[in-house]
Amino acid sequence: MKAIRSVTTGGPDTLELHELPTPQPGAGEVLIDVQAAGVNYPDTLIIRDLYQFLPPRPFTPGTEVAGTVAAAGEGVQRVRPGDRVFAILMQNGGFATHALAKENELLPLPADMSSEEAAAFLMTYGTSYYALKNRAALQPGETLLVLGAAGGVGSAAVQLGRTLGARVIAAVSSQEKADFCRTLGADDTLIYPRELDKESQKTLTRQIKDIAGSDGVQVAYDPVGGPWAEPVLRCMAWEGRYLVVGFPGGIPAPPWNLILLKSCQVVGVFWGAAVMRDLSQHLENVQELQQMVAEGHIRPQVTQTFPLEQTADALKLLESRQAKGKLVIVPG
Ligand SMILES: NC(=O)c1ccc[n+]([C@@H]2O[C@H](COP(=O)([O-])OP(=O)(O)OC[C@H]3O[C@@H](n4cnc5c(N)ncnc54)[C@H](OP(=O)(O)O)[C@@H]3O)[C@@H](O)[C@H]2O)c1
Repeated sequence: MKAIRSVTTGGPDTLELHELPTPQPGAGEVLIDVQAAGVNYPDTLIIRDLYQFLPPRPFTPGTEVAGTVAAAGEGVQRVRPGDRVFAILMQNGGFATHALAKENELLPLPADMSSEEAAAFLMTYGTSYYALKNRAALQPGETLLVLGAAGGVGSAAVQLGRTLGARVIAAVSSQEKADFCRTLGADDTLIYPRELDKESQKTLTRQIKDIAGSDGVQVAYDPVGGPWAEPVLRCMAWEGRYLVVGFPGGIPAPPWNLILLKSCQVVGVFWGAAVMRDLSQHLENVQELQQMVAEGHIRPQVTQTFPLEQTADALKLLESRQAKGKLVIVPG
């Protein structure tokens, strides 16, 4: 098999393509013939030892795959060789032609979804649905502001916000990304600069207030952080919910008095841990998400695919903020 290996700590250029023996699945494990692997921002962090989990090296990054069961280990009951499946691999290994998964990580791949779409589904829609439904209890008619709205989790939040009946304001760093968010169903868009100083923070606050209106933002979805957090916090509605999702822009330290003044909640979102703590809630959410796909409300936005050899290029595109929607590796 072929696999992308992280052999030393560092950025995408430290990754190497290796030829390895194809592993045999152990008890309770399944070997997947990987047809597509989703690229997520955490992949850029884990290879730099900047993520919550630190796998021992060398390791194969990539957590989100879709493909066919190639072999099933002892005791595996729910799937058989030949079944189409998709999965989140808690122990990584996705950027490869073959990957091992635990049986309980696998879901049957819906017939109406391609492997590329399935590999672009669970992490982003799972995170954003858990955030909007379970953490913020977003209500129809509420105003939802999404930062980084053209990115992976952001584009999922835009589609889900619309589906849940919210008025969605998509905030992004370019006109091209704003146009993309319109195609996802955003009601309004706003463009912020790629870097924010004190002056542009004030401009962003004014822009959000102008669009959100006097009631402000009931739910803010923030997968960006950094200096973007303060202007958003200044626009929160009374008793609004501010969802803390990620920090590619840095870890923010906004003035805490704003939380008191708005009587708002700052709500943490850690989807991976939530899945491990409450599998039945996760499975219920996945079922509801699949229903939304079947009804045409949401659709994974695969904007570009890359062969396995170009995995580093995909990661570079993501971290340089040039990607829209989801990038997918196609190892075959
Ligand atoms: N909490 C959870 O459970 C969970 C689950 C999955 C992902 N995440 C986190 O969510 C964040 C987004 O993940 P993703 O896979 O959606 O990434 P993504 O597709 O790269 O989207 C991130 C967006 O953030 C914006 N951004 C602002 N400053 C940036 C910077 N310095 N570098 C890169 N992007 C920057 C970009 O939009 P603009 O150019 O428009 O600003 C970009 O589109 C990451 O921090 C990830 O770790 C959290």
